[in-house]
Amino acid sequence: MIRELNHLGIVVSDLNRSVDFYTKLLGAKKVWETKVEASGMEIAYLQLAQGLVELLFFADGALPIGANHFGFYSDNLDEDFARIVEHGAEPVVEPRAAGSGAGRQAILRGPDGVSIELLQRDLPLRSGTVPHPHIQAIDHFGLQASDHDRAFDFYTGELGMAVVKQIPISALATTLSYLHHGEDVVEICPDIHGGPRLHHIALAVDDVEAVLAYLVSIGAVPDGPARPAAGGVGRIASVTDPDGVVIEFIDRPRVLEV
Ligand SMILES: [Fe+2]
Ligand SMILES: [Fe+2]
Repeated sequence: MIRELNHLGIVVSDLNRSVDFYTKLLGAKKVWETKVEASGMEIAYLQLAQGLVELLFFADGALPIGANHFGFYSDNLDEDFARIVEHGAEPVVEPRAAGSGAGRQAILRGPDGVSIELLQRDLPLRSGTVPHPHIQAIDHFGLQASDHDRAFDFYTGELGMAVVKQIPISALATTLSYLHHGEDVVEICPDIHGGPRLHHIALAVDDVEAVLAYLVSIGAVPDGPARPAAGGVGRIASVTDPDGVVIEFIDRPRVLEV
């Protein structure tokens, strides 16, 4: 059974620069790191608010830079992997010992070719919520799907996520869906932002204008001024991480709370 959306994995071009970005700007805390000498892979897990971001660096440039995968925890890796592949997902890496040395992993491709990592291990990396002057929680991870229903079926059916909320978008004849495992939410949105499928990390904040002022005061460069959030409640602004992942700030109640 898949029991947790554990992390968003991001392949970075400069590990120290990315760790600095997430820790200094967003208050994230490094909770685990490892280096695999043989492959030149370095991994840092950061707890951001209540969630996890995995930063991966490959000395040999093995994978393209940018948001790379969702990592889910399974309590029966072989069975879950076989079931999802049997239902049509493309297998990429068969169940094996994880490259990090912690537990076992497998990788497959979901709708739109998005990489899904399945992990079976006992490595509780996060607890509580990392404090920040303005960031209250990761509201959701934004996934741009070319076909809402196909993505919805995959994440609810194969990966066991439950529905938080669905909002019809009549102008685009589609639906915006929020799905979760516990505190971790994925937004399935239409392909409206351009750029990669794994598009953004949306953070619930107290006050977007205060966040922008804070970011500027510590030398960061936001993407632009705050604007009304789509949907009409609250305001939104963003900053882009060193490898193109958009970090959104939204000052409205968390999607899990409404
Ligand atoms: Fe991962
Ligand atoms: Fe979003």
